[in-house]
Amino acid sequence: MRDVQRDLLARELEARCRGKLRRDEPLGKHTTFGLGGAGDLFFAPADLDDLSRAVPLIKDAGLPIFPLGGGTNTLVRDGGFRGMVISLTAGARQIDIGDDEVIAQAGASTQRVARQCQRAGKTGLEFGCGIPGSIGGAIRGNAGAWGGETLDHLTGLRGIDLKTGEEISLAQSDIAFGYRHADLPADLLIVEAGFRVREGDPQVIAATMDRMLAERKHAQPLSNRSSGCIFKNPPGHSAGALIDSAGCKGMAVGAVEVSDIHANFMVNLGGHCADDVLALIARVRDRVFRVHNIELEAEVRIVGDP
Ligand code: EPU
Repeated sequence: MRDVQRDLLARELEARCRGKLRRDEPLGKHTTFGLGGAGDLFFAPADLDDLSRAVPLIKDAGLPIFPLGGGTNTLVRDGGFRGMVISLTAGARQIDIGDDEVIAQAGASTQRVARQCQRAGKTGLEFGCGIPGSIGGAIRGNAGAWGGETLDHLTGLRGIDLKTGEEISLAQSDIAFGYRHADLPADLLIVEAGFRVREGDPQVIAATMDRMLAERKHAQPLSNRSSGCIFKNPPGHSAGALIDSAGCKGMAVGAVEVSDIHANFMVNLGGHCADDVLALIARVRDRVFRVHNIELEAEVRIVGDP
């Protein structure tokens, strides 16, 4: 039954929308980890009009939907995703900088938003200069670095409930959020968001960003494929320091290894198997629990079938 709905939806999207529609798309192509299974359907609307045309079709099909951002904090399991993956990174990445607010479409890169603010002399979002991924993903996971967190700066967002087709507008005060967490409706596709900014000196902002980027380059394995930090920092602790002192650096399953530069990164040295990451996550959690009596919680979003 689901196959019939899937084929029907694919044909309808191809007939009525301008965006890219792929069947059995390997999702490793769309994640920074570069591994895992395929999505039954992968749809990237050409722009927001195209998305509006697609929404009623998607809603009526009733398939499971996974909104994929920049794929930086996502691990797709080897069985892939039985449903439709929707990506706004090609068709919705406009950034408009106003006096005290920046409006960014959900597919815009977090790093580009930070850089454009710097060029326009707007301060507040420089912490995003080294955070890979899209604005939609940064909101979902309340991405942060150097003390800055995405939701702290959010004014509000617009999105679509993909189960009902309804438009949703939320102010920052409507959303409960915390460290690496934003409490958002499960079926919400974030379309656009606003962020508070202030006047600043472009050169001063650039200098701050240079410092952040240099620190990141020194402390993190940026030349390898990874999903960023794999675990959340437990309250009062650094996951990286706990994993390191538990002796996990260099631990590996298949081609996936605990980075010897930063122990909270797992790097993919050429593998294709999400199971290897999951097995390494389990091993590291187990070792850290035995040594430190602390349970690590995954930060990476794990999706799809085993
Ligand atoms: N440390 C070790 N060994 C390691 C790694 C770190 O001893 O292998 C020690 C460091 O020496 C330092 C402490 O642990 O004393 C904290 O490390 P770091 O400064 O690298 O910060 P972090 O807590 O590991 C957090 C975020 C990063 C973000 C950086 C910079 C989390 C899970 N991680 O890392 O975010 O880039 O701060 O602000 O919150 C991400 O979320 O994907 C991510 C990379």
